[in-house]
Amino acid sequence: MKTLLGLVASPRKFGNSEIFIKEIHRCLKGSWNLRLIRLPELDIRPCLACYQCLFGPMRCVQRDNLPLVLEEMVKADALVVAAPTYFLGANASLKRLLDRGLSFYAHIDALWGKPAVGVAIAGVTGLEGYTKLVVDSFLKLILADHRGCEVVYGALPGEVLLGHEGPAAARKLARALEEGAETPDSKTPRCPLCGGDTFRFLPSADPAGSGVQKIRCMTCSSEGTLRWDGASFAVETIRGEHPLFLTREDTVAHLKWLQSMKDLFMKRRDELKAVTRAYKDTGTWVRPENT
Ligand SMILES: Cc1cc2nc3c(=O)[nH]c(=O)nc-3n(C[C@H](O)[C@H](O)[C@H](O)COP(=O)(O)O)c2cc1C
Repeated sequence: MKTLLGLVASPRKFGNSEIFIKEIHRCLKGSWNLRLIRLPELDIRPCLACYQCLFGPMRCVQRDNLPLVLEEMVKADALVVAAPTYFLGANASLKRLLDRGLSFYAHIDALWGKPAVGVAIAGVTGLEGYTKLVVDSFLKLILADHRGCEVVYGALPGEVLLGHEGPAAARKLARALEEGAETPDSKTPRCPLCGGDTFRFLPSADPAGSGVQKIRCMTCSSEGTLRWDGASFAVETIRGEHPLFLTREDTVAHLKWLQSMKDLFMKRRDELKAVTRAYKDTGTWVRPENT
């Protein structure tokens, strides 16, 4: 029997995120055991930016519930992530886990290529904001094989499975987990490198005259163009210096680059200190008492 790990980024018991994951599990054709983690109830502390997890035993210095999540992610055969929209973004429990993402590098062998899907849930149609982008980024940055991410709507607990769109999305994601990502529909312009569908418009020399708009893919960070060819919009993107993470080699190269920053820091330490020292006594820190 295979194991599907569901990461529920909602505090609400029997809420839409939880039941949507359970519905995906029901739609799977094979024999799957479902394990669930409710992210908001875990003790996942903020990253300390100490970079210790990139060296030696590659272990975070903090003693909290991160190892529990990592162990479950490593053991699972596939992953599903569900995040409710809170103020136009994914519930912070998902970002809180993603902020500890440097710890995922130590598990690249187990995580790379692991089938994973996600769902962004919003209470009001059209008010999902950047929740899907956070879920897309999460799936990519945990080094998994991103096989699909859907936006579904429903405010009241259980509402996402009323009507036909939610159940259809669950069936689609279950199929993607077992059979591989679907060929993307041609109606939505996507990044040809990573499949991302969220872009930032960049200043372009003559967007009106040329019909070409410079863009950056917000999922893999590759730059490119959005071009109107008279009948449809076409996206072209090219691999940049820091592609995130199109291949396993990119990921290892990025890890090496991060590790190399330690030597660079040592080399430039005096120069950097001279900059920061000048700001040492500026401002008054406001902190709770007794800290
Ligand atoms: C604090 C808070 C903020 C919310 N912000 C949004 C929002 O910006 N856009 C939206 O469509 N729904 C918003 N919602 C509604 C939830 O996304 C919606 O009810 C969702 O189904 C909750 O999923 P859950 O049942 O898994 O917790 C918000 C809910 C809460 C509690």
